[in-house]
Amino acid sequence: MAEILSSADRRKVDESDDREFYRSPRLVTHADDAFLSRLTELYAAVAQPGDRVFDAMSSWRSFLPDYEFEHVVGHGLNETELDENNRLDERFVQSFNREQSLPLATDSVDVLCCALSVQYLQYPGATFEEFGRVLDTDGVAVVSFTNRMFPTKAVRAWRNRTMDERAALVEQYLEAGGLSRTRRVAERPGSNPFYAVVGRRPDEG
Ligand SMILES: C[S@@+](CC[C@H](N)C(=O)[O-])C[C@H]1O[C@@H](n2cnc3c(N)ncnc32)[C@H](O)[C@@H]1O
Repeated sequence: MAEILSSADRRKVDESDDREFYRSPRLVTHADDAFLSRLTELYAAVAQPGDRVFDAMSSWRSFLPDYEFEHVVGHGLNETELDENNRLDERFVQSFNREQSLPLATDSVDVLCCALSVQYLQYPGATFEEFGRVLDTDGVAVVSFTNRMFPTKAVRAWRNRTMDERAALVEQYLEAGGLSRTRRVAERPGSNPFYAVVGRRPDEG
């Protein structure tokens, strides 16, 4: 597939391997409490108990609602962070900037979460193609972000864009996964803007 970002757009100030940057665990949060509560509220609105969840680009905290899910797979770049995350039934570490193929079966996920992380993807087209593959036909993807980031690790295309332009870029990423935006949220619940794009397969509501 043709990649969405040009080689200039995918440049990072710090071009070293992302796995090095995440070698030491960071047991911190990346947005304020109001943002994180709003995220949980959004997940609660789109997910259902019994769902199979994939929390991509995750860390030590889970923002999933207190539902009994069938299975929660977490992915991240730091094993210690993922081990601390008590909502995960299964976990794997993988840099999507090196390898986009996911070790997950086709149609095996009902809810795909990607929180506060999409700005680090250098090959979003191939990565979201995989997100789309693992998402079941009536599944839902929620990509959330704010104006905070590790600037040296965010791609140039992200750094150069306004918040609304970033939301439009995320919608292009979803399209690469065969998903269309069903909802875009842009709010300011606290000091960090809350942006989220919800995507589903067309005709699935
Ligand atoms: C700011 S943290 C957000 C973590 C979590 N989603 C949260 O909201 O607390 C950014 C996360 O992006 C993920 N990440 C960064 N670069 C990555 C890469 N090259 N491949 C895969 N994941 C990456 C890591 O899991 C890292 O913890």
